[in-house]
Amino acid sequence: MIENGQNQQTLSAFQTLNGHGAAAPVVVSGGRVSRDDRRTVGEPLVKDPRITCRSVNVWYDKTHAIQDVTLDIGRNQVIAMIGPSGCGKSTFLRCLNRMNDTIDSCRVDGQICLDEQDILGPQVDVVSLRAQVGMVFQKPNPFPKSIYDNVAYGPRIHGLVRGRVEEDELVESSLIKAGLWDEVKDRLTSPGTGLSGGQQQRLCIARAIAVSPEVILMDEPCSALDPIATAKIEELIDELRVQFTIVIVTHSMQQAARVSQRTAYFHLGELIEVGETKKIFTMPRHRLTEDYITGRFG
Ligand SMILES: Nc1ncnc2c1ncn2[C@@H]1O[C@H](COP(=O)(O)OP(=O)(O)O)[C@@H](O)[C@H]1O
Ligand SMILES: [Mg+2]
Repeated sequence: MIENGQNQQTLSAFQTLNGHGAAAPVVVSGGRVSRDDRRTVGEPLVKDPRITCRSVNVWYDKTHAIQDVTLDIGRNQVIAMIGPSGCGKSTFLRCLNRMNDTIDSCRVDGQICLDEQDILGPQVDVVSLRAQVGMVFQKPNPFPKSIYDNVAYGPRIHGLVRGRVEEDELVESSLIKAGLWDEVKDRLTSPGTGLSGGQQQRLCIARAIAVSPEVILMDEPCSALDPIATAKIEELIDELRVQFTIVIVTHSMQQAARVSQRTAYFHLGELIEVGETKKIFTMPRHRLTEDYITGRFG
């Protein structure tokens, strides 16, 4: 049911983008939504998106891990993916740079476009896609190389730098953006693995940034870090969104509330509710979202 102009717009945007009219998923408008209603509530689409996901389904053999998810990722903002363990947050995140390709049993179906580029097509060069859509993992995973080489490696293999001067500049600017330069500038040749956990994670962020990505995916990037290191990464995320689009999976609702502008709530592989972070946390419309954020579930 459509109740106002804005929802009318959302609904027609869905129909146009999906290209199959009334068969497209419908955004549920109006008030509270019962636990049994599994259509996405809220605003899955945005104006001028960076990534568009349409009817995305993911299976691991017979396990249907992501069910018909339609969602836009907005430009230069942070979207948080939240939901109980096993609801499909990591699986969905991995769709966005084809990391699921590395799992034999995994099959992804639907349409995902980065700007105009269809990223699920067989012709896609996944190595350059993963430079455009970089990833930071739960456990910091620097290469067993020097701090300098961790950052310089990507630009070298992608041919982004000519000569040592350019390379030095790019390493420095990436480390500055990752908020790590001052701490490491005097020991660039030391191993990256010798840094503290929080520094290693910022090194991994510098490594992702060095190849000029458009989007950075972060899968629980702070869950192995202490509160001080976590606060530093959260501040950094807020600075980085000026230049990049960020998708962060987090099991911490406080973190989602602190760092994101939009939040998507997943439940058993379905996208239940998505919208402005403040609204999701103060006025969730779906009972399942409410259960989760009030601690009744998960
Ligand atoms: N590599 C895998 N092989 C088989 N099943 C998987 C694999 N990864 C995840 N799954 C299953 O997919 C579902 C979603 O998992 P996941 O995306 O890891 O959830 P979350 O990140 O929200 O905890 C779960 O049922 C999980 O068991
Ligand atoms: Mg996960």
